[in-house]
Parts: sequence; structure tokens; C-alpha cells
Amino acid sequence: MKKTALITGASSGFGYEFAKIFAANGYDLVLTARNQEKLKALAAELKEKNGAEVFVIVKDLSQKDAALDIFTETEQAGIDVTVLVNNAGFGDYGRYADTDWEKQLKMVTVNIVALMQLTRLYLPQMRRRNNGKILNVASMAAFTPGPYMSVYYASKAFVLSFSEALTGELKGTGVTVTAVCPGPAATGFEKVAGSGARKLFGALTPASAKETALFSYGALTRGKIVAVPGAMNKISSIGHRFLPRSVLRAIILRLQGED
Ligand SMILES: NC(=O)c1ccc[n+]([C@@H]2O[C@H](COP(=O)([O-])OP(=O)(O)OC[C@H]3O[C@@H](n4cnc5c(N)ncnc54)[C@H](OP(=O)(O)O)[C@@H]3O)[C@@H](O)[C@H]2O)c1
Repeated sequence: MKKTALITGASSGFGYEFAKIFAANGYDLVLTARNQEKLKALAAELKEKNGAEVFVIVKDLSQKDAALDIFTETEQAGIDVTVLVNNAGFGDYGRYADTDWEKQLKMVTVNIVALMQLTRLYLPQMRRRNNGKILNVASMAAFTPGPYMSVYYASKAFVLSFSEALTGELKGTGVTVTAVCPGPAATGFEKVAGSGARKLFGALTPASAKETALFSYGALTRGKIVAVPGAMNKISSIGHRFLPRSVLRAIILRLQGED
């Protein structure tokens, strides 16, 4: 039986690269995002190049029950999702008191609620088959509080904590959950998050979307629980454990705060 990977946020950045990697490794695909044109073009390319069956679902994950609609569509099409990649997400830069409430709410809905709901919907069938893999895209932001991107950082802390908790429940079931925690990477993220996020990007050398996606794919296939790409990110994720919270807060504030 051919394996199928469902990838959210497949129209750009990591998700776009994940689609290419899974197709090259013999997977059929379900690709979802809002940008129909980009998804269709990618689907055509992967059908042509890899002979993959690609099912496109155009969906705004910030809308209530978008995840349920995606699940229903795959059920109706008779697709067994063997790998779920919860990748879609975005950030927003600014003093929390000045942020746009609607954008913050959408961020929480996409970064947290849709990820939770897709996991809740696809996990039972993975459990029944004793086979399945889930890749949740967290971030280095998961390890620290993030002044000026407070909700984004908190959303990624949720993703990491939630993913690790599930691995305890799933021990011995044949189903694995991997949380990947990338540092800054060259994708559409910075543009969506706003100009202030550029400071963080400017302070560090961004990785490429392709190398981050390849690293994440490797971690997923090995069933790693928490995966941090890049030596510097790894060192700082370990360093965070030994630093007092006050020092951590001060470092991120310096990196990200207003001039
Ligand atoms: N780039 C980084 O530095 C970095 C570092 C750590 C973690 N991450 C995480 O990596 C993940 C992927 O981001 P990226 O860096 O690849 O950024 P990106 O290039 O902006 O891609 C984001 C993807 O999410 C989709 N998306 C955004 N809002 C959506 C919505 N309302 N409904 C459905 N899909 C939506 C976008 O598709 P449409 O616009 O077509 O809907 C796009 O495909 C995110 O979870 C992000 O938080 C990024």
C-alpha cells in the first residue's frame, strides 16, 4: 500500500519543501493551504516528476472547523493518511497591547487549534492501524518567552509541550510524534510576521527551507521526539535549560525589542 502524507502550509517555505521531499520518497500527498494557484502548480510538478497522486484541499485554517472539513474530504476520497505534517503557521511582531486582535486570534487558531484538531482527527485511525507518524513544526521560539512576539512564542511552546505529552501516551503503539524546532529560516515567515521580526533574522544566519525540511524529514523517519536543526540552535536549546529565566528574557528582549 502506498503511503500518504498530509501537509498543511504546503504552498510556501518548509511545507513546499516537505511536499517535494515526501513525493521524492514515494509518498502520495494531500496538500493544503489557502493559495490554490501555488498548490495546483506544485501538485502538477510532483505528479509529473515523481508520479505521486496529489490531492489538493484549499482551506483557511483560521476558520472554525477547517480541520474537520479537511478530514471529511480525505475520508470521502478514501485516503488513509499515514503521515500528518502540521506545518502551517505564522507569527506577528509588535507590542502585545498594540497588536491586531483578529490577527492574534487567527494565529492561535492556525498554530494551535488546527494542529490540535487535525491530530485529534487522524490519530485514532493511526492507533487502529498501529502505524502512523505526526510531525509538528514548533520552533526555537518554543524554548523561551518572546517579548514583541509573545503569542507566537507561546503558541510554539504549546506545540512542543503538546507533542512531547502525546509521545508518552503513544508509547508502544507504532505511532510517533516528532516536534521539530527550527531557528530562523529563509521562507515567507518574516514577511507575514512583520518588519520587526527582521531584527531576529538579522542577528542570526537563516537556514534554507530545504535543509530544514530535509532535517525534519530525517527526524520524523527516525521517530525522534524533539529535533533541533543546526549546531548553534542545538547548543542554545540546551543552554536555555541552564540559564535563569531572567537572563533568557533579557537576551530575547535585546534581540527582538524596539530600538
Ligand atoms: N521560517 C522560520 O524562520 C521559522 C522558524 C521556526 C518555525 N517556523 C514555523 O514553520 C512553519 C512554516 O512556516 P514557514 O517558515 O515555511 O513560513 P511561510 O513560507 O510563510 O509558510 C507558511 C505556510 O502556512 C500557510 N498558512 C498560513 N496561514 C494559513 C491559514 N490561515 N490557513 C492555511 N494555511 C495557512 C501558508 O499558506 P497560504 O498563505 O497559502 O495559506 C504557507 O504555506 C510555521 O509553523 C512557522 O511558525 C518558521
